[in-house]
Amino acid sequence: MKEIKKNVFWVGKVDWEIRKFHGDEYSTHRGTTYNSYLVKDKKTALIDTVWSPFGAEYVEDLENHISLEKIDYIVAQHAEIDHSGGLAELMKHIPDTPIYCTKNGVKSLKGHFHKDWNFVPVKTGDKLNLGNKDLIFLEAPMLHWPDSMFSYLTDENILFSNDAFGHHLATEMLYNDLVDQAELFQECIKYYANILTPFSSLVEKKIDEFKNLNVPVDMICPSHGVIWRNNPLQIVGKYLEWSRNYGENQITLVYDTMWNGTKNMAEAIAKGIKAADDKVVVKLFNISHSDKNDVVAEVFKSKAILIGSPTINRGVLSAIAGFMEQIRGLKFKEKKAAAFGTYGWSGESVDMISKELEDAGFELLADGLRSTWNPDEKSLTECIEFGRKTAEKIKM
Ligand code: FEO
Repeated sequence: MKEIKKNVFWVGKVDWEIRKFHGDEYSTHRGTTYNSYLVKDKKTALIDTVWSPFGAEYVEDLENHISLEKIDYIVAQHAEIDHSGGLAELMKHIPDTPIYCTKNGVKSLKGHFHKDWNFVPVKTGDKLNLGNKDLIFLEAPMLHWPDSMFSYLTDENILFSNDAFGHHLATEMLYNDLVDQAELFQECIKYYANILTPFSSLVEKKIDEFKNLNVPVDMICPSHGVIWRNNPLQIVGKYLEWSRNYGENQITLVYDTMWNGTKNMAEAIAKGIKAADDKVVVKLFNISHSDKNDVVAEVFKSKAILIGSPTINRGVLSAIAGFMEQIRGLKFKEKKAAAFGTYGWSGESVDMISKELEDAGFELLADGLRSTWNPDEKSLTECIEFGRKTAEKIKM
């Protein structure tokens, strides 16, 4: 338990060990935290809990600081079990305590825990009076689940934003100004790219809606990672930037390869790009050897991507197929793309990738480039030329 503002306490859990989140869908190289907050006034409110495996430990810790019966209200801002897991354990002790959440939160919590707890559905603008201070609720559907909501604490000027503005970073330092800034922002952009990209159009609207409340913000308390206390609105500014079809001067090549033919194509294409534009950042990833979430973050930063696979069984290598499914769902906007790959006999991979890129919302820069077997000097020259033309088409 750590006091973060007068009578407001962090009561979460730092998970230094976790390396895969959402099953195996999201890599957490730097661990994470599950942030839970206790707000004491005449009445006491608990905001969010922790992931299920830490539920018993969480309740025990909480009991060391407050008699559980003294918790008057629970606010469940989001039902995903990394925040509601501890709730099941807690409710064994205080089963009648009201749980404030959105209407969708009720559905989702019931769906997860099959309990008919004392739910109090709330809407945007609803207030929970704690005595001298209020918690004001702001629904935030699809940021990032239909049930998500934010809560704002008056007087202390704290925005509890749940997953929004969060990041997977285990630290004992608690605050944004006390951690390595490069690590922090790397985790923030990775989180945005992998989780929030499909909902970018809602991000700006929600930020505007919050701005229209015209309330001061001293602190933003997300449910993962550090608390934004130093220039807290800097992360809001980043979200606005990232939500506006973000892209840096970068071209990323993502490929898989069997006997290095497609890899050799990738390297020759990269050579051509650099020959045409020495300022553009070029990065290459063999997706089979790379962390897919890190590569998604690189795609997010890119203005163009080139995807390569040899043809196998009239299709593409399975790691590329998986990656294409991932970027399809993320709905990137205003990015350009092209495909490349080697083949021996039938050669479908390039057309398949091109079509999937188009279906995923990328603008095709060119017909894809194919090369037979392992590219010879002539083919490599074509790859260099392909890279050169690609760079010229998108030169900033
Ligand atoms: Fe951190 Fe959507 O759960």
